[in-house]
Amino acid sequence: RLSSTKELLLNAEKGGYAIGAFNVYNLEGVEAVVAAAEEEQSPAILQIHPSALKLGGIPLIACSFSAADQASFSDEYVALSNIALKLWNWTYVPITVHFDHGNSKQELVEALEMGFDSVMADGSHLPFEDNVLYTKSISSLAHAKDILVEAELGRLSGTEDDLTVEDYEARLTDVNQARVFIDKTGIDALAVCIGNVHGKYPASGPNLRLDLLKDLYALSSEKGVFLVLHGASGLSVELIKECIARGVRKFNVNTEVRKAYLDSLSSPKKDLVHVMASAKEAMKAVIAEKMHLFGSAGKA
Ligand code: 13P
Ligand code: G3H
Ligand code: ZN
Ligand code: NA
Repeated sequence: RLSSTKELLLNAEKGGYAIGAFNVYNLEGVEAVVAAAEEEQSPAILQIHPSALKLGGIPLIACSFSAADQASFSDEYVALSNIALKLWNWTYVPITVHFDHGNSKQELVEALEMGFDSVMADGSHLPFEDNVLYTKSISSLAHAKDILVEAELGRLSGTEDDLTVEDYEARLTDVNQARVFIDKTGIDALAVCIGNVHGKYPASGPNLRLDLLKDLYALSSEKGVFLVLHGASGLSVELIKECIARGVRKFNVNTEVRKAYLDSLSSPKKDLVHVMASAKEAMKAVIAEKMHLFGSAGKA
């Protein structure tokens, strides 16, 4: 590959901005990220969740890897990739492919074999010591291939309007635990839980602990680890900026792009080609806006 996720995040750290990692599910999704990245001259991460991989299989991977760049496709995909590049006139922008929320060693081993540029070993549902062991085992495998490893500490909720204060607090990333976790696992990127949630935020709005983020950034800077924020859909311009100022270098965006896709389908024109093209444009618009907000636009 011409670019690595590590290099993208290092540049973001130096420049004080963040990279968007956009979950993709199909061709239109991949095209939307590439088109936005080209137009905005922005680095980007194509992010594939295990459920997306199950749906899209090898075509989704081939398409994503083609997009990532044409320099180092694995041999199996080279012919397909060259055709894709020719048909869609893709030019080079720094794009990498990340495996999101790897919940089992088996699927992570497969992801490493497939040639993802970075992986998330998600052991956040496990007790602390088990999360350490799980994450550490993936780190060793990934680092042997020079692949960046992201892991999560704390527990990210879905939208639960009625979390008690105790429940909310219990799920946050603990700084002292994070220190031990980073030391024991050797991870490169830490996904933090500071009140961020997947999907929609409760009606009362996001309740992000920016003070905690500041402390986590002090730790991550000391350790040379990048901070990641999942659940970026639904965060205001102001909150995103506060998070970048406190060290977030990768934002995961899924729901807002999916919503743009679905909303575009309600257009009255039901011609398939039109539907596909407008779905792509709708996703691209959301992605391009995030690239500006994250500060990655113009950094390709
Ligand atoms: P959102 O769906 O809230 O954007 O979260 C995305 C995410 O964290 C993917 O890993
Ligand atoms: O990380 C989350 C997965 O990509 C699924 O996201 O909760 O928006 O479906 P979702
Ligand atoms: Zn996530
Ligand atoms: Na969210």
